[in-house]
Amino acid sequence: MAFPQTRMRRLRASAGLRGLVRETELSAGRLMLPLFVMDPGSTHAAREPIAAMPGVERLSISAAVADAREAAALGIGAVMLFGVPGEKDEHGSGAWDEEGVVQVATRALKQALPELLVVTDVCLCEYTIHGHCGVLRDDGAVDNDATVELLGRTAVSHARAGADLVAPSDMMDGRVGAIRDELDGEGFSEIPILAYSAKFASAFYGPFREAAGSTPAFGDRRGYQLDPANGQEAVREALLDVQEGADMVMVKPALAYGDLISAVKRATGLPLAAYNVSGEYAMVKAAAAAGYLDERATVLEILTSLHRAGADTIISYHAKDAARWLTELNP
Ligand code: PBG
Repeated sequence: MAFPQTRMRRLRASAGLRGLVRETELSAGRLMLPLFVMDPGSTHAAREPIAAMPGVERLSISAAVADAREAAALGIGAVMLFGVPGEKDEHGSGAWDEEGVVQVATRALKQALPELLVVTDVCLCEYTIHGHCGVLRDDGAVDNDATVELLGRTAVSHARAGADLVAPSDMMDGRVGAIRDELDGEGFSEIPILAYSAKFASAFYGPFREAAGSTPAFGDRRGYQLDPANGQEAVREALLDVQEGADMVMVKPALAYGDLISAVKRATGLPLAAYNVSGEYAMVKAAAAAGYLDERATVLEILTSLHRAGADTIISYHAKDAARWLTELNP
């Protein structure tokens, strides 16, 4: 039956009716808050602003614990840790150092807030002098297999520190399987892997690289991250990660990749995380500051749309604000 018997507006007429038939509901428990944690050994203030990400700061360990406590109180499901080390080297050895920044921060967080999930980023780019996500061959390309071995070591050190989930973001081939083997071999068979399966070579990571100090010194990441033009390849990457033992998959960035959130979710059936990345955050903050957009309405619309597209979990720098707004809406 079509118009005039059918009138779609009937069920939109009141807040009560809209609430009754709403298909997707966002909740704070689905959100993950990324935290940039600074080296405990170096001298810095407890909090350092990040110019392109108003409201986000690089944090000392104790400031990170304070922010995580706030996040937990707001009902946020997890924090995701990125390390900002004081020193870097050619191989990124700070990544698997038992006294490295992520390892120390994980121990501090698990001790202070045992219930809050700690997810760790497994990558070398914050720890290498050249800023690439792995070790380099003589010709300057990233050496896949040598890198995979170091990633396995890094994941084990995170698990040993108490991480609840490890999330490899490097985009090397075979890293999920290698990390699974390493974890299982060291007695961490219960630790899940959240694979950054479809991570694109994106302009939207700009502010993150400033925050984490991980801009490549030369070249770019197109030799390992996905081409934004390729959707089928993204699904194939995700299916390979499933074969290698991924427990969860990720699509990143989120906003311009809603088609792939939906396609990867359908193809894998796995729990899926969408990463609402730094550049997506920066755009909203800039437009809101200029008075061009209503920040609260925009953020909630973006996060809801990612959930609707198929994301079970959303990683977002807006997480604390969003959780606060969601509680105001549903007290
Ligand atoms: C690096 C990493 C990046 C992000 C998460 N992990 C940047 C990159 O690949 O250059 C981006 C996150 C963001 O932009 O918010 N391993």
